[in-house]
Amino acid sequence: MSNIAFDNPFAHIPNAQTRLLGVIGHPVAHSLSPALHNPALAWLGLNMRYLAFHVYPERLPEAVRGFVAMGMRGFNATVPHKEALLPLMDWLDPLAERIGAVNTVAIDPDGLLRGYNTDAQGFTDALAETEGWRSSTEWGDRSVLVLGAGGAARGVVVGLLEAGIRTLTVANRTLARAEQLLADLAPHYPQATLRAVPQEPLPLEGVDLLVNTTLLGLAGEEMQMVEMDRLPDTALIYDIVYAPRETPLLRAAKRRGLAVQNGLGMLIHQGRRGFKIWTGEEMPVERVRARLLGLL
Ligand code: ATR
Repeated sequence: MSNIAFDNPFAHIPNAQTRLLGVIGHPVAHSLSPALHNPALAWLGLNMRYLAFHVYPERLPEAVRGFVAMGMRGFNATVPHKEALLPLMDWLDPLAERIGAVNTVAIDPDGLLRGYNTDAQGFTDALAETEGWRSSTEWGDRSVLVLGAGGAARGVVVGLLEAGIRTLTVANRTLARAEQLLADLAPHYPQATLRAVPQEPLPLEGVDLLVNTTLLGLAGEEMQMVEMDRLPDTALIYDIVYAPRETPLLRAAKRRGLAVQNGLGMLIHQGRRGFKIWTGEEMPVERVRARLLGLL
């Protein structure tokens, strides 16, 4: 792809060579992905655009066929399409298969659909940017508690186990769902001690990292089951939500003096990995982060 952004005043206007990327969701209007990818594409002088498409679940196969027919380079998927994309792929990345969800699709020039899941590594990339967690070789002895057992939890749990976490508990309102998640994954990680527990009371003592993957907190709900006083002083509290930037869980953790992290880093790094797959280029992560912080 030619680097036309700097000598051509029309570089930012799409032309007949412009390649299309996008995100599909239902709903999708809240997605930050266009704001994440378009500036990065422009900064690198790539003649590509990234748009959001509202695709109804029953029209997913039709939409994907249309994307292939139109020669799109690839797309991201958000709720509720990540699981439904799986059988539509011609090739699956082993991590996507293990997680049971595809969040990034690359369309080859011959129309072949390659499905990836960049959420798991996006989460651990972001975790590795956090004070005290920069060296993933030290993660093996740490104890992690994941709240929630939905699609988002599955990505986070696989990311943590792939990164070498050996002690992991999943707590969920519906215990059977947490048990199922771990039953699916346990055969792949025989060295790990995995435990499913109900949402209350939470086993908070000795936890080094608590990750909230539930939708609680999105609308400002308190999470009373997380009794901050029972957590070690050194615990890191991670909420994969990025808007609001500070959920009630993170606010309560800060009041208790604990380190906190929201979902912005995970959003950026899952996007960075997709960007690399589609363009072959490294996304300028810090510039993207500064811009998104200005939007949130
Ligand atoms: P996602 O793909 O975003 O993870 P999901 O698959 O619908 O979405 O999972 C939502 C998660 O949030 C689940 O763990 C869900 O708990 P249940 O499995 O018991 O449904 C959790 N969750 C949603 N609303 C909740 C609430 N009010 N209290 C506790 N957990 C809740």
